[in-house]
Amino acid sequence: MEKHIAGKNVYITGGSSGIGLSAAKQLAALGANILIFARTKERLEAAAAEIRKSCLSETQRVSSLQVDVGDNDSVNRVMARAVQEFGPPDLLINCAGRAYPHYFEQISYEQFDQTMKTNLYGIWNTTAALVPEMKKKGGCIVNVSSIAGFIGIFGYTAYCASKFGVIGFSEALRSELRSHGIKVAVLCPPDTDTPGFAAENKTKPEETKEASKGAKLMSPDEVARQLIIGLKKDRFLIIPGLDGKITWRIKRFFPALVDAVLNRQIEKVQKRLQGAHTEVRS
Ligand SMILES: NC(=O)c1ccc[n+]([C@@H]2O[C@H](COP(=O)([O-])OP(=O)(O)OC[C@H]3O[C@@H](n4cnc5c(N)ncnc54)[C@H](OP(=O)(O)O)[C@@H]3O)[C@@H](O)[C@H]2O)c1
Repeated sequence: MEKHIAGKNVYITGGSSGIGLSAAKQLAALGANILIFARTKERLEAAAAEIRKSCLSETQRVSSLQVDVGDNDSVNRVMARAVQEFGPPDLLINCAGRAYPHYFEQISYEQFDQTMKTNLYGIWNTTAALVPEMKKKGGCIVNVSSIAGFIGIFGYTAYCASKFGVIGFSEALRSELRSHGIKVAVLCPPDTDTPGFAAENKTKPEETKEASKGAKLMSPDEVARQLIIGLKKDRFLIIPGLDGKITWRIKRFFPALVDAVLNRQIEKVQKRLQGAHTEVRS
């Protein structure tokens, strides 16, 4: 990977923050040309400046383009411009994402729609716009899902719907694109210390917060480092961290056990919260 990525074009949606930004900087440090995409111009410009500092040489190109990945028309327009001005991607990392955790009944249709548009339709939109170009010379597509892409988590109905979808989409796409020389991988990060994660905590139900208390947050740099190792090893499913890998295996072979453990955790927290409520009232 280190050898092959130098001089290659890497497109990263959501490259202006968190995991996407860390991946951009680490790939720039390996000699890649980086093009990042997001909605907010100022954050894109600040991120591009940071990425430039990680470059190996002055000949590497770093650029940014504004786009809302959920908007099919603008994705088509912006990706066509990207291909024309920057050249087609060798590696596409679909990292743009959002989470709005809440109790199911507190999530409006608009919130659900926005989550699906960004996390699932967004990946569809960029991939559909770029696959015809990528087919010409081969390449690799990484779609960012989550641990919540294979385990249903309390408070994450909308997010899980989108991230489970990302894994199914990627598996089917991998099968179709293999003969065209395009590899597909899925990254499933655990809880990671990013601006996105901090925003999530504002609406996360108490049960989820309490149940995950004490769990170690991974750094976005470590997630990006493990993504690059996973690509180097040609992995389809890339799960950073030992806890995530173990969770995936247990969920796969003993799904009832995972259910039982999660249910017990939530029940314990709910009892504690109810107790605290009763104490306050009396
Ligand atoms: N952090 C975690 O704990 C965690 C765990 C598992 C999976 N993930 C996944 O990892 C990915 C990155 O998460 P993060 O925590 O690093 O997030 P983050 O810090 O909030 O960064 C999100 C990035 O996506 C961009 N973005 C959001 N909506 C967009 C849209 N509609 N169109 C274009 N760009 C958009 C943001 O820029 P603008 O807002 O300016 O558009 C930003 O660049 C997401 O897919 C997330 O679901 C994160």
